[in-house]
Amino acid sequence: MSDKPVVFSGIQPSGTLHIGNYYGAVRRWAAEQGHNFNIFCLVDMHAITVPQDPAELREKTLETAAILLAAGIDPQRSALFVQSDVGEHAQLAWLLNGIASMGQLQRMTQYKEKSAERREQSTVGLFTYPLLMAADILLYRTNFVPVGADQKQHVELTRDLAQRFNATFGETFVLPEPTIPALGARIMGLDDPTKKMSKSGGRSGHAVGVLDSADAIKSAIMSAQTDSGSEISIDRDRPGVSNLLSIYIAATGTTREAAEQHFAGKGYGTLKREVVDALVAELAPLQARYAELRASPDHLRALLTRSATAIRPIAQQTYADAKRAMGLGLGSPGGQE
Ligand code: AMP
Ligand code: TRP
Repeated sequence: MSDKPVVFSGIQPSGTLHIGNYYGAVRRWAAEQGHNFNIFCLVDMHAITVPQDPAELREKTLETAAILLAAGIDPQRSALFVQSDVGEHAQLAWLLNGIASMGQLQRMTQYKEKSAERREQSTVGLFTYPLLMAADILLYRTNFVPVGADQKQHVELTRDLAQRFNATFGETFVLPEPTIPALGARIMGLDDPTKKMSKSGGRSGHAVGVLDSADAIKSAIMSAQTDSGSEISIDRDRPGVSNLLSIYIAATGTTREAAEQHFAGKGYGTLKREVVDALVAELAPLQARYAELRASPDHLRALLTRSATAIRPIAQQTYADAKRAMGLGLGSPGGQE
């Protein structure tokens, strides 16, 4: 492995990627590939913590891979693989089950939100989800984890677990740090700007998918909830307009000051139309590259398999170290451990 910093991130291959995923995570993964050793993972084992149709999950795994490549993930510079292809993820997650406390996991906001409605029916996997995520990160001795703001708590938990493991069993894991973008870290739902845009939002008018047609983008943005008033600025009391303006800033690469000045004295209709134009301009070329890539599923499968083969030895080594440190297995013949 090179001595460049290791960057690892994951995305669930369920639902369709939306602009929150794109601006909060994927676009940055692509932009920052040059400086690091990059590993991007399609976390299909995280996806099954809520019900999935098997055929659809497999389809979405290829779709998500093609979107990431279309967004600029370069297989020459980055590993891109499917989580369930490297068995050590589940194996290390189990070891972490012996480290994490119930209380720690009960404090996780994502778990509380996702299980709020039907706690008794929600899967055990939804509860232990952060341990699998911690295993993903720790296996590759990751330094940096680029994610949206919603995942910061999980990366901090990973750090705590690694620290506890190292203190108890000896230096084994590298402590990771989350990196959160200044802009686009939390894109909110268009129908309800107090809730983050999510893949499970489901309702039409909630999200803009990165594969949405120009017409669909237009109808979602034009019907987005705005606020009473008319000033266009980022303001905690006006979440609807703030969200649209944040999307505009993320899509055009302008600054907050320049954007606020640009829209001074203009109405919400103008803001919405310009957001539509900016999104269509950004997403149309991505969609064209996606269509090409998606037309060769065998090529996608081969690329994902090759990548898993290339990085598996790193995961195997870290897992073997963790296992030995905890006293599992028989150790080596004649050895001290
Ligand atoms: P997920 O869709 O949960 O697999 O998330 C994949 C990546 O997108 C993670 O880095 C998330 O933090 C990020 N992400 C998800 N939803 C949003 C959002 N609404 N705004 C910004 N980033 C997000
Ligand atoms: N839990 C993350 C999400 O829902 C996805 C994920 C899984 C991840 N494993 C990871 C992100 C490791 C960063 C690092 O967004």
